[in-house]
Amino acid sequence: MPANINLSSRLLKQLSTELEVFLHTIGETAARQGQNIYLVGGAVRDLLLGLSPIDIDLVVEGNAIALAKSIPLSRMKITVHQAFGTANIKWNHISIDLATARSEIYSQPGVLPEVTPSNINRDLFRRDFSINAMAISLHRDSFGELIDPYRGMSDVKNRCIRVLHEKSFVDDATRIWRAIRYEQRLKFKIETGTLQLLKRDINMLDTISGDRIRHEIEIILKEKEPEKVFCRADELRVLAKLSPALTGVEWLKEKYSEARVMGLSDVSLVTVYLGLLVYSLNTNELAAIVAYLRLKRTMTQVLKNTIDLKGKICALNTPSLPNSEVYFVLDGYLELAVITNLIATDITAIEKHIENYLTKLRHVKLRLNGNDLKRMGVPQGPDINRLLHLLHAAKLNGKVITKQGETRLVYNWLREREAKKKQ
Ligand code: CTP
Repeated sequence: MPANINLSSRLLKQLSTELEVFLHTIGETAARQGQNIYLVGGAVRDLLLGLSPIDIDLVVEGNAIALAKSIPLSRMKITVHQAFGTANIKWNHISIDLATARSEIYSQPGVLPEVTPSNINRDLFRRDFSINAMAISLHRDSFGELIDPYRGMSDVKNRCIRVLHEKSFVDDATRIWRAIRYEQRLKFKIETGTLQLLKRDINMLDTISGDRIRHEIEIILKEKEPEKVFCRADELRVLAKLSPALTGVEWLKEKYSEARVMGLSDVSLVTVYLGLLVYSLNTNELAAIVAYLRLKRTMTQVLKNTIDLKGKICALNTPSLPNSEVYFVLDGYLELAVITNLIATDITAIEKHIENYLTKLRHVKLRLNGNDLKRMGVPQGPDINRLLHLLHAAKLNGKVITKQGETRLVYNWLREREAKKKQ
C-alpha cells in the first residue's frame, strides 16, 4: 500500500460542512481521551469513488459509548446499544453510527459471530470485501489518512469486489447477496477468485436464517435498479436459493422500468417489485417463500392477492367486455395487486381494462343505498343486494348517470316485480 495517502481534501469537498465539523470535533475529543477514531466501511469506498456517502460509520479503538457521551456539541440525540457497544448520534441533519473496534470469530457458519474488542486492522479484517475494509483516520494528528491493509483502494480503481479470505462466504453467506448487490450497483466485477468461492459456497446460504435473507432482499429492493441484482443472482444460481421455481427473470428488466414510471410511493414500489419477482410462482410456491422469508402480513396479503388475480385476469382478455364485467373481476383485490398485474401482463386488452378500472370504474359510486331502496318499497332481504348490484352494473355501463336515473330504475324494477306477481 502506498504510504500516507491523505484524503482530507476529499472529505472537505464531498462531505457537508456539518459533517466536517462533526468529524473534526469527535476526532479532537477522542484524541483528548487517548483514543483513535476512524471513518470506515462504505463511506470510505464512496469517497474514493467521488460519491457523497449516505451512511456514516465510525470505529473507535477504545469505548464508543463513552466517547459518544463526551462529544461537546449541543442538541445531540444519542441512542446507546449497550450489548453491542455501539451508539447512534443524531445531530442536526446527520446520523452517525459509532462502534468499538472489534474482532469476530465465527464458531459455526451463518451464525452471528463472537465479538471481542480489538484494533482497527483487525476490525477491518472482519469485513466482507476489500472495498469496504478501509478506514480514514479522524485523529487530529493524522486527520484524513487512509488505512488500507487489504488493497481496497486498488480494488476500487480496478472496480472489483474481492473477499479478504477464502472462508468469507462460509462465515457469512449473506455476503453472497452483498457481492452481487455491490457489483451491480457500482458497476464493478466480482473478482475471479472471489467468484469461484461464491459458487463453491452457494449452499452456505442454507445456513442463514430467513430473517437475514429477507433483510438483504429488502436492501436490494431499495436499489435504483434491483432487476440487475436479481438477473445476476439468477445467472449465478443464487436466486434459486430463495425458491427453486424462481428462474428466468430477464423479463424483470422491462417490467421494473415500467413500475418506476408509475409514480408510486417508495413503499408501494418495493411491494410491486416483490410482486413481480414472485409473479411466476404458484400459490404453494408463494406460500413457501413467504414462510421462509417471514414476510410481514400486509406484504403477504398483497403477494397472495397478486397471484390469485393472475389466475383470473384471463377473463379480461376480450376487448369489448362491458365495464361492469371488468369491475366485478377486479373488485375486492388490493390496489397494489391490481397494479402488479397491470405491469405484468403483455396483453393489450387486459391492460386497457385494468387501466379503465384503476382510473374510472373503481371510483363509480351509487347515489342510492340499501336504506333508500327499503324506503322506496324494496322488501328487506336478498333483493336489496341483488338490486344494488344491478344498479351498480347499470351505472358502470353508463345506462344510468344521475340519482333520478337510479330512482327510475328501482321503480321500474318494482313495477316489473308487481306485474310478475299478478301473472
Ligand atoms: N459488513 C460486513 N459484512 C456484512 C455486513 C456489513 O463486513 N455482512 C461491513 C462492511 O464493511 C460494510 C459495513 O459493515 O461496509 C457497513 O455495513 P452496511 O451498512 O450494510 O454497508 P455499507 O458499505 O454502508 O453499504 P451501503 O452502501 O449499501 O449502505
